[in-house]
Amino acid sequence: MKKTLTIILLTIMAGFSARADEGMWLPSLIAQRIADMQEKGFKLDAEDIYSINQASLKDAVVLFGRGCTGELISPEGLLLTNHHCGYSQIQQHSSVENDYLRDGFWAMNREEELPNKGLSVSFLERMEDVTDRILKGYEPGMSEDERVAAVKANSKALIDEVIKEGKGLRATVEALYYGNQYFLFLYRQYDDVRLVGAPPSSIGKFGGDTDNWMWPRHTGDFSMFRIYADKDNNPAPYSKDNVPYKPKKYFRISTAGVQEGDFTFIYGFPGRTREYIHSEGVRYIEEIGDPHKIHLRTLRLDIMSKYQSQSQKVRIQYSSKHADVANAWKKWQGEVKGIRKMKTVQTKQEFEAAFDKWATDGEFDGVIAKIYGLYKELEPYQFAAEYYSETVRAIEIANFASSLYATYKVNKETGEVTFDQKKAADLVEAFYKDWYLPIDKECFAALMTEFDKNIPAEFKCEYFTKQIKKYGSAEKWAEALFNKSIFADQAKVEKFLKAQKSFAKSRKTLLDDPATEFAAEFAKWYASDIYPATSRINQELQLAYRDYMRGQMVYCRTQRVPKVFYPDANLTLRVAYGHIKGYQPADATYYLPSSTIKGIMEKDNPEIFDYNIPQRLRDIYAEKDYGNWTDSTGEVPVCFIATNHTTGGNSGSPVINADGDLIGLNFDRVWEGTMSDIVFDPEICRNISLDVRYVLFIIDKVADADHLIAEMTLVN
Ligand code: ARG
Ligand code: ASP
Repeated sequence: MKKTLTIILLTIMAGFSARADEGMWLPSLIAQRIADMQEKGFKLDAEDIYSINQASLKDAVVLFGRGCTGELISPEGLLLTNHHCGYSQIQQHSSVENDYLRDGFWAMNREEELPNKGLSVSFLERMEDVTDRILKGYEPGMSEDERVAAVKANSKALIDEVIKEGKGLRATVEALYYGNQYFLFLYRQYDDVRLVGAPPSSIGKFGGDTDNWMWPRHTGDFSMFRIYADKDNNPAPYSKDNVPYKPKKYFRISTAGVQEGDFTFIYGFPGRTREYIHSEGVRYIEEIGDPHKIHLRTLRLDIMSKYQSQSQKVRIQYSSKHADVANAWKKWQGEVKGIRKMKTVQTKQEFEAAFDKWATDGEFDGVIAKIYGLYKELEPYQFAAEYYSETVRAIEIANFASSLYATYKVNKETGEVTFDQKKAADLVEAFYKDWYLPIDKECFAALMTEFDKNIPAEFKCEYFTKQIKKYGSAEKWAEALFNKSIFADQAKVEKFLKAQKSFAKSRKTLLDDPATEFAAEFAKWYASDIYPATSRINQELQLAYRDYMRGQMVYCRTQRVPKVFYPDANLTLRVAYGHIKGYQPADATYYLPSSTIKGIMEKDNPEIFDYNIPQRLRDIYAEKDYGNWTDSTGEVPVCFIATNHTTGGNSGSPVINADGDLIGLNFDRVWEGTMSDIVFDPEICRNISLDVRYVLFIIDKVADADHLIAEMTLVN
């Protein structure tokens, strides 16, 4: 099977190598793309990008935390990533006295660098096609269960074997192309990663949610960390004796600047894309999933904003929550618009019709119909599952109630109940600090009203129907629940937690509380009525997709249908290349590809939180005290856009020029192009990056931390 797929891929690539900038390529197979890259301006070789014999660019790129990318920029382990990727670390170290989120943070020497519990970075040691090994023991004709068992056992054996090769190694086996291929990824993980610097949020988050997913953009979205290792350069848990990690490779930084048309190359960890799905999957997203989720989030955001505008305290309490809810909300709107504009459903239906005709009586006969049928079967369950997560799981008091309830542990043998006092106290403190009852209550009423309206009777949970019947409306139900629940009152909760004599009894009181009951009853419903169906149907879909994926490749190759194939993103290391380019978002409008400090000043407004910049920046601008960090017009460059194919997880990825030097830091995409997770339009899909010269400018002029610049290698 491996051989067939490889042959198919090679033929496809030879046939259609000179196509547009779509694609997230596997670094170990980059030799198949290198001619195209070089034709487009890249000056290095495949071995410079990925090599297991010598240091290569991959050794300067890390998976940062759970879902971002970072890169090494000095021989002493200095790492660059986004402000929004380091956000929780910056927040963790912030207090009222030292508000690093508000004011920024700069370690002026190594002693001042701040350790971070739970933060790690991983270098890819190597990756390898292990399809044959993973499918050993599985023969065509065996059941899917037998296949799953073989994959599991073989993967475990392989992982156990390779992690013995060195210190701090971890490995994963990932299915690519829906399990037509398996790859081993071996990583070296470092756990002592310290915060070195971050600009104030008024720079690092400039534009906030207003500008999020938008171009023109002026966000200084970066933060800096340093990796520490033991004295042998090996991974080690935090210790004050650890020393800065000496990377095999780090990026030189180019201050030469960027021009429209320049070659750009992004190396990073894209999280999830679905480029090969059936039209019916896209139709669901476009017509049902996204619109409903957008509507539900609009309700929540409006309620939050209403109360936030009435009180400074509430504005701060809900700023991060609002940002989280708004991020996907805004992206989905761009996605729907993009899918419609591209007529993706129709294009896919036409492709499927032709494929189906071709497939008659062959290996892939019926797979289109099979997938269609499964989507039809899945739809009501998928809808209910999404509704559950966007309504029930959005009720803060209910989430809090269940997490507090989880601090009680019951010993299965003795029945004895114990209680984690410290954990509970921490939860209480964290929750009430940022909770505002009127918002939660109004969201409850609004979201339950929608649940009532949109979930068909036969899918509703019995508990829900009873409550609505009992109270007459979601508003009245909300009134009663928030009146009665002990969680509506922090003082009551604290008193309750202190006063309890018997944990068993107090656990029962919590269990009977209407907020806990709400969470628990819905969770039970989800676990019994919804999840088993979505899980079973999705498994069948995966199976059908395994055939359809292979089918699409064979069909396109034999029928000479031009289509690029690259594995969907799955948080593994990928290469995406393209070039700096503006775009036309609407009729008669053209966006230039780079922004400057002038645009920051145009947006600057002390009255608007998202656009209120530090006074220092205003002064620098007035004096034009720009140092060496200007473009050809004498302004400081801030951001630029390019045609690289990226997604969530690519945040923090290095943007590299034709010489392999760092020119920027990826952090977002333009709104009109967010459908690129499903369908890529080279005309309009653009990734947004921070110009590395703006990073240097901030470090030098705003932070006065040029000792960091001294560590780097700058080239012009
Ligand atoms: N849109 C960017 C990326 O997904 C940045 C997100 C962080 N910023 C925010 N305002 N929430 O995910
Ligand atoms: N902002 C995203 C991230 O955090 C990147 C994107 O979706 O384009 O990874």
